[in-house]
Amino acid sequence: MAPPPPPPRRAALLLAGLLLLLALAGSAFPGATATGVFQVRRKFPVGVGGGAAGANISALRAHDGTRHGRLLAAADLPLGGLGLPTDTGLYYTEVKLGTPPKRYYVQVDTGSDILWVNCITCEQCPRKSGLGLDLTLYDPKASSTGSTVMCDQGFCAATFGGRLPKCSANVPCEYSVTYGDGSSTVGSFVNDALQFDQVTGDGQTQPANASVIFGCGAQQGGDLGSSSQALDGILGFGEANTSMLSQLATAGKVKKIFAHCLDTVKGGGIFAIGDVVQPKVKTTPLVADKPHYNVNLKTIDVGGTTLELPTDIFKPDDKKGTIIDSGTTLTYLPELVFKKVMLAVFNKHQDITFHDVQDFLCFQYPGSVDDGFPTITFHFEDDLALHVYPHEYFFPNGNDVYCVGFQNGALQSKDGKDIVLMGDLVLSNKLVVYDLENRVIGWTDYNCSSSIKIKDDKTGTTSTVNSHDLSSGSKFHWHMSLVLLVTMHSDISQE
Ligand SMILES: *[C@@H]1O[C@H](CO)[C@@H](O)[C@H](O)[C@H]1NC(C)=O
Ligand SMILES: *[C@@H]1O[C@H](CO)[C@@H](O)[C@H](O)[C@H]1NC(C)=O
Ligand SMILES: *[C@@H]1O[C@H](CO)[C@@H](O)[C@H](O)[C@H]1NC(C)=O
Ligand SMILES: *[C@@H]1O[C@H](CO)[C@@H](O)[C@H](O)[C@H]1NC(C)=O
Repeated sequence: MAPPPPPPRRAALLLAGLLLLLALAGSAFPGATATGVFQVRRKFPVGVGGGAAGANISALRAHDGTRHGRLLAAADLPLGGLGLPTDTGLYYTEVKLGTPPKRYYVQVDTGSDILWVNCITCEQCPRKSGLGLDLTLYDPKASSTGSTVMCDQGFCAATFGGRLPKCSANVPCEYSVTYGDGSSTVGSFVNDALQFDQVTGDGQTQPANASVIFGCGAQQGGDLGSSSQALDGILGFGEANTSMLSQLATAGKVKKIFAHCLDTVKGGGIFAIGDVVQPKVKTTPLVADKPHYNVNLKTIDVGGTTLELPTDIFKPDDKKGTIIDSGTTLTYLPELVFKKVMLAVFNKHQDITFHDVQDFLCFQYPGSVDDGFPTITFHFEDDLALHVYPHEYFFPNGNDVYCVGFQNGALQSKDGKDIVLMGDLVLSNKLVVYDLENRVIGWTDYNCSSSIKIKDDKTGTTSTVNSHDLSSGSKFHWHMSLVLLVTMHSDISQE
């Protein structure tokens, strides 16, 4: 019952809710199979990062640190893409896997928990991407360090909460993930070397190695199969033990802290693993025992006026709550919230006529939206505010035409209709820090074309990590306009 976020209908909007599929044994893989079912709820050890379990992880890290002679402090992951519906609608980074290492472009997704790349066994996987990137199929046999993870290995049992049915010797550990937009991937886990850019000084990195378990995706469904925005895979930055971050942390390679700054001005931005010391961010606690990054939203104000909403409307429970998800492009609000926000935003513009453009609410506006519209502020537990400016909640779509980047969740999915899902559009142009050691998340308005400072845990030195734009090198520049489907209807009626 991972809250299935409302699935959008467009390829660009990969909602990355991890939905749990029941065992698919036999369907995709002929012969003996043991396919894992992802746990609906993650079971966090009590006090991760602070209590006894945290201390234990630190001990393990210290132990590994001395054993390997070096504690890796920070990693720099170059970002590309631009999270606007009229642009790529997503952000990606590159990872190098195998020996010799090969490069894979993967979508950065804080809403899911595994890293997977298209596998050599995948017959329908795209070889070329509309994003102008060369895609690569991963072949465990072509890597001298690659090996298949078997279902009787510890990782498999730990991932699926016990030994899988049908598991016997030499049966691969298979998985299946369905994302919130209905796309899916099925494959088996492999273990191989990951090469990443370890931060070694100001603006400097050096390649470093770690062994990680990730998915070799044999069959991708939905928009992952053939979309013009195809990438090699998805890098899940969720909290579960299966994520690359958790594996690196457990191996004592990094601290379980990462940050992103998604740049809608230039594209790309900053994405790094490590302890961010500059800028400082205010934080809010993560809601415990949730399968995504859930936070406690308290109130919303528009132009300084607090919206009147039922007190329990954002209270996190099985079907409600607020999720921070970089794998989602837009922001989804429960219907009542959506309507109240829209009424307040357009309060001074009763004369505006709306066009319905591919499910987006669009309108013509000749002036500067920042001058003509109010700032929306989301207030979270512990007094953390998220300011969303008009140029962020509206996106331009041609001459003087703007569309609303918020969606009414009720129109998207039944199960996720009461969830607040905050995607790239509102997370952009902010440094967002996920401090899983202390179980908090925080942000501050920031220039994502600049740099941040990260502290090396061991030496105490700080280093600068700069912004990147992987997409800038490519000749290609993605620019599309939403097509006007239905015109002229005014849709922000009173309830
Ligand atoms: C995750 O890993 C930690 C430390 O390795 C372990 O204590 C914990 O039980 C694991 N959690 C799950 C859900 O397997
Ligand atoms: C640390 O982990 C080990 C095994 O994973 C466990 O037996 C031990 O009790 C843990 N120690 C603490 C302080 O939690
Ligand atoms: C990574 O591991 C491979 C194989 O063990 C080794 O040959 C290579 O030198 C390592 N690279 C780095 C940067 O440590
Ligand atoms: C953001 O930072 C970049 C690099 O330091 C700088 O060139 C640019 O002018 C800054 N943008 C703003 C709006 O301050």
